[in-house]
Amino acid sequence: MNSKLFARVILFLCIFSMSQVMAKTEALSLIQNPDGRKHISLNGSWNIIVDPYENGFYNHRYQEHEAGYFKNQKQKDPSELIEYVFDNSRTLHVPGDWNSQDDKLFFYEGTVWYEKDFKLAKQKEKRYRLRFGAVNYKAIVYVNGEKVGEHEGGFTPFEFDVTDKLVDGDNFIVVKADNRRERDQIPTVNTDWWNYGGITRPVKLIELDNTYLSDYSLQYSPKNGGVISGWLKVDGKRGVGDNTAELQIAELKLRHTVALDKNGKGQFSIKAAPQLWKPTAPKLYDVEISYQGVAVNDRIGFRYVEVRGEDILLNGEPIFLRGISIHEESPRGQGRAWSKDDARTLLGWSKALNCNFVRLAHYPHNEAMVKMADEMGLLVWSEIPVYWTILFKSEAVYAKAEKQLEEMISRDKNRASIILWSVANETPSHKARLKFLKRLVKKARTLDSSRLITAAMDTHSTGANGKAIDDPFASQVDVIGINSYCGWYGDKPANCAGYRWESEYEKPVIMSEFGAGALQGNFSDNDLERFTENNQALVYKHNLSMLDNFGALRGVTPWILKDFRSPRRPLPGLQDFWNRKGLLSEQGIKKQAWHVLKIWYDKKALEVQKGQALKK
Ligand code: GCU
Repeated sequence: MNSKLFARVILFLCIFSMSQVMAKTEALSLIQNPDGRKHISLNGSWNIIVDPYENGFYNHRYQEHEAGYFKNQKQKDPSELIEYVFDNSRTLHVPGDWNSQDDKLFFYEGTVWYEKDFKLAKQKEKRYRLRFGAVNYKAIVYVNGEKVGEHEGGFTPFEFDVTDKLVDGDNFIVVKADNRRERDQIPTVNTDWWNYGGITRPVKLIELDNTYLSDYSLQYSPKNGGVISGWLKVDGKRGVGDNTAELQIAELKLRHTVALDKNGKGQFSIKAAPQLWKPTAPKLYDVEISYQGVAVNDRIGFRYVEVRGEDILLNGEPIFLRGISIHEESPRGQGRAWSKDDARTLLGWSKALNCNFVRLAHYPHNEAMVKMADEMGLLVWSEIPVYWTILFKSEAVYAKAEKQLEEMISRDKNRASIILWSVANETPSHKARLKFLKRLVKKARTLDSSRLITAAMDTHSTGANGKAIDDPFASQVDVIGINSYCGWYGDKPANCAGYRWESEYEKPVIMSEFGAGALQGNFSDNDLERFTENNQALVYKHNLSMLDNFGALRGVTPWILKDFRSPRRPLPGLQDFWNRKGLLSEQGIKKQAWHVLKIWYDKKALEVQKGQALKK
């Protein structure tokens, strides 16, 4: 073989082996509805080692070393030198951020190693997928001392096939979780929320057949009298006979055989007249999709959403979105929310405000939250953390944003409650940002043509009382979100009522943020005194009067349901690292402004009922 050809062969082998390594470490595409699969929960107590110098990953020459903590070594002889051990180390509860579980970790940003032992009765003909609901922010995962993969992004699930790493009997998992903020991340280094680190959502070991139903999507359209259409995907080797799957919705007397193509994908479009999902009647159907006798069950609502001029239509009817913004923070104070109970409480508080809509800011919330919104009848704005000053010129950063968008849409595409995908919040308007966001919108529409696209944008004043909606990005979205803090970040509360809004676009507008800070229980005779409940109520009063005269307005999500932790809010005695713009204190106690908004929503709901509110 001549030297040129030999060099080419070597180059090919290098590239091929690199791709194999990359392929092994990249997370897999998500399976749909993990709760509906046979699985072992790995929630509970995990041993941890706090490792600010990443001593468990790099040796003193700063090279990744072979005896890292992922080996979970045990001293076999007293003469053996091992300078770490998981067995009797401290523990943390998973799911759960480390900041709110241990005061010594409240401000901690760095690496924490997690370790979990578990027994498995490994089945020969099964595959095993290890799924994390989320790890903030970077995760490297090892099973029985071998790396299975890594993931970046703090608010979306990821999975690895660990079949070949598991043994029958005793196994262990080690996770390197690192929540350090870096300039080239999504979000970047500056946010107005607490950087809760760790394995913040549930962990499952999912057992699958070698060939299994991996994914599916069902959407309703009113066309031709009503159609449920979509697709399903079977992964794995298929025998000659097994080229169909069964879709069944018993309550609709619907049973349909779906033919699979050579790639295991099957499309369907079935005439159907389901009761349409809506906030006042959140009807969900039991859907069963089975393949080779293995059934996957889901609860899915059918509805359709569209925009027409300045109106948002749900099931063909104009709707006004009485909403509230929510951070994913525990209703019992601080720390990441993650459970059904957390979701039920937070959404119950929203319902108590007479909301029919929630903005789940500023990142995809946990799966329990969106499933609970389906059950409780709350429409949802779901968002990726393309927040403030992202590195918009970076291709690598764009890829991170797009991956989080894909993971959010893949996970929640069957949730009727979600009507809006938001691709950004308050991003500075310039050429690179517009290009970046236009790409994201294009990607979102490719992934899901059934939902509306939005983003929260800044606005600016045009002289006395004039406010302009003229962000060039607004031309790309279906619904324009605007954040405007009249009476808090500028101007006096009494001037807000007189604001007049001008939009360059004939599109629905959602006031995605307004509000003011108040320490619950703090009052003053002076309504202009900051951080008093009466000042917050005054700001709400005048902003809501402004909204009464805002013709293109079709929704509001005031900032924010409850006080939340923020490293940007240190003011002693009033903030103490809480952002106090909640209508509820961090313990869920109502502030005066809560009642101001509730009264306005009750009035709004009545107007819409009488068909008045959307006429302006
Ligand atoms: C911004 C931002 C929020 C932030 C809020 C505030 O609009 O979108 O994330 O918390 O204002 O200043 O409280």
